[in-house]
Amino acid sequence: MSNRNYLAEYDAAPTAQKYPLVKGWMETEPLPFFKQLRAERPILITPECVLVAKFCDIRDALQMPKIFTVDLYKSKMGVSDDDPGYLMAHDDDALHHREKSLMQGMLNRDDIPRVRELIAKASDDILTAAAGSIEVVNDYCRSVPTTVVQDYFGLDGIDKKTLIKWSFWNQYDAFHNQPFDLNSPEKYQHIIDEHNAVSGELVSYITKLMARKLVMVKAEQAKNIVLVGWYALKALINKLAGRKPAAASDDIVTRMLRSSFAKEVDFSLLRVGVNAGGLLIGAIETTSQAVAQTLQFFLAREDLLPAVRAAALQDNVELFDKMVWEALRFVPIAPYVFRRTSQSHTLAKASPWQTTIHADSNILLLTQSAMFDDYAYDQADEFQADRNYYHHFNFGFGSHECLGKYVGMAMIPEMLRQILRRPELQAASAMDYKDGPFPEHYRLRW
Ligand code: HEM
Repeated sequence: MSNRNYLAEYDAAPTAQKYPLVKGWMETEPLPFFKQLRAERPILITPECVLVAKFCDIRDALQMPKIFTVDLYKSKMGVSDDDPGYLMAHDDDALHHREKSLMQGMLNRDDIPRVRELIAKASDDILTAAAGSIEVVNDYCRSVPTTVVQDYFGLDGIDKKTLIKWSFWNQYDAFHNQPFDLNSPEKYQHIIDEHNAVSGELVSYITKLMARKLVMVKAEQAKNIVLVGWYALKALINKLAGRKPAAASDDIVTRMLRSSFAKEVDFSLLRVGVNAGGLLIGAIETTSQAVAQTLQFFLAREDLLPAVRAAALQDNVELFDKMVWEALRFVPIAPYVFRRTSQSHTLAKASPWQTTIHADSNILLLTQSAMFDDYAYDQADEFQADRNYYHHFNFGFGSHECLGKYVGMAMIPEMLRQILRRPELQAASAMDYKDGPFPEHYRLRW
């Protein structure tokens, strides 16, 4: 760990340089910087935003969504005077509560074992075809979650490249084109333009997808009414013969269209479409980044690699999965989640670092720092697979906790498990972000 005195450098820097310094440290040496923050200045007010470094303060803030709001998502997630946009841009209101819980029900957790099998097969197919050498970011890390988007979520009938592009620009604009990302005006506008262009394409695709699937669902329902007697008879014959009836085709979009909601539930076809788009946007770039960075982490840790490989070869995935979540403390997809205050609020009351944060402040809740806080972690700097999972922040925390959490908890480790089973897996290039926020190129061989 570095002995650099970040806060002394910060204090001595001219005002215009303070936040750029902080941003650089978060990118290149977050752990020692966060450690010093936790020890000496757990709430740091910079000219651009406020950094919150301690576990309890972060959990506290994330449990007050009306005060620590997601307003910075609004312009990125379609919210306007006449359009409520996506659920993620709503704080603790009827729409967020209603649509999140409906979608959690649709993503039935009982599906997870078969989703994991789908992921294992999609991963193994790609790796077998690659025959010992792969550019892993595009051909694996982005490709496998796109199969899940097509086959499980049901956004089918379209090529993978297009789905990946739509997820990419949405994620880039929402999470890496905020005031504290310090993008130049040209870059800022370029990202917005790309996002707007893909949004038009996505809306048009989702409209056609829903129309196509709705026709199938309606035909199926009409047939069901006519054939209800026949199906009852067939079910009885199957039961007597000890056979399982053939499964009807099922994916999340079809499942949403098959379900009928009373008008008062207020989940119209339009809202079904918006939520179908959300599944795609959430799934691809997040998973890709988590898998690529964890691979890089393990391949660089010769001390851990033999144990990780051995765990990947076991049928019981429990130990391997724990190793993956532990690795993601060190290389999370982002070191923070951000919020904006709707009112003045005093955080960490009665502690020596009690701080009043003004209304309309941008806040970086340093979730990676929280995952190294000794409030919740013994020997936090050590890699120890046997941690308490409830203290992790990889899928956020509180009312905005990730909708895709349980799919992600199967997808990320299974993708890693399949590749780490390959004998003598090693990096054949450095990982390249190509000046963007996401891994773009990383060649592996085995
Ligand atoms: C598998 C498919 C995924 C889907 C469909 C998905 C979808 C979502 C949605 C809709 C939310 C917002 C929930 C809300 O506002 O109530 C969310 C939040 C979040 N997701 Fe996911 N996600 C997926 C995968 C992932 C992965 C792989 C990661 C990281 C490893 C991730 C990290 C997060 C985080 C950190 C948040 C919280 C953001 C915040 O609090 O501002 N997600 N996700």
